[in-house]
Parts: sequence; C-alpha cells; structure tokens
Amino acid sequence: MFDNATKQQVLSSALRLRLASSALTRDFYDRLFDRAPELRAMFPADMSAQSDKLFDMVLVLVQSLDHLQMLVAEIEALGVRHHEYGVTEEQYALVSEVLLDTLEHHVADWSEVDRKAWALLLGYVCDLMITGARDHASSAA
Ligand code: HEM
Repeated sequence: MFDNATKQQVLSSALRLRLASSALTRDFYDRLFDRAPELRAMFPADMSAQSDKLFDMVLVLVQSLDHLQMLVAEIEALGVRHHEYGVTEEQYALVSEVLLDTLEHHVADWSEVDRKAWALLLGYVCDLMITGARDHASSAA
C-alpha cells in the first residue's frame, strides 16, 4: 500500500516525537481553533475528555502501517461518525494541515520528507473517511 521509504519515514518521525501525546493533542487543538475558531463549537466545552482520541488514532495508524487494509472498515465507520458530528469534506484538508504543522513542531529534525510521508498517510485516511461517509449517505438515501 505504502512503499518502504514512506513507512520508514513515518515510523522514524514517530520515534522522534518530543512530547507526550496529551501535550501534543492540546497543542493540536490550540492550533486548530486558532486557525478556524468556528470549529470550536463542534467539540465539547470540556476538552479534557477529548484528550488523546485523535492522536491515539494516529498512533494506531503508525503501528498498523503494514496492514492498513485491515482497518479500512474501521476508518470508513469513523468517517460516518464524523459526518454525524457535522464534519464536512472540506474540513479534512484543514485538519490534516494543522496535524502536519503540529507534528513539525514536536518531532526532532522534522524534514520535508517526514511531511510528505505523513501527508500520504493522512490523505489515505481522510479519503477513506470521506468515502465511508458518502457511501453511508447514498445507501441511506
Ligand atoms: C485525519 C482525520 C481524522 C481522524 C483520524 C479523527 C479521529 C477522531 C477520533 C478517533 C475521534 C473520537 C470519536 C470517534 O471515534 O468517533 C474523533 C472525534 C471527533 N472529531 Fe475527528 N478525526 C479526524 C478528522 C476530523 C475533522 C476533519 C474534524 C472537523 C473539525 C473532526 C472533528 C471531530 C469531532 C467534532 C469529534 C467529536 C468530539 C466529541 O464530541 O467528543 N475530526 N475524531
């Protein structure tokens, strides 16, 4: 699915992470709401419960690089739930960009090669989430 160079780059940058995931998650949401304050209302007032959900998912993806096809149904279902949260297709690009910027600030020696590898992985996941939501909407219609 991904070539070895991409997989190696994602794994090696995950190992170069400087922060605990909860601090990373907090920084991610700070950046996201800074860029797009209108998204704040979609999330619970108390973000502590939100804590690590998104980054836990990202770490699952990192651990599953060799068998992502086993997660296709799970990722599509995540996309259906996001549609129900009110997430639009356009918001995926913004969230991916903020995620990449967050990683850039917390991974030691981050380079354009890391960014490219993560962009491929996130692009794959977002496409599957969007497909899941579209298929669900068309089967419900
Ligand atoms: C890379 C793509 C994304 C991943 C992997 C991801 C992952 C997750 C996960 C694992 C959850 C926990 C709840 C659940 O499993 O249903 C969640 C919740 C949520 N996500 Fe995402 N997400 C992504 C993109 C987005 C985008 C583009 C938005 C748009 C703003 C968004 C907004 C939300 C909201 C509003 C919740 C529910 C918060 C709550 O009520 O607790 N996510 N996300």
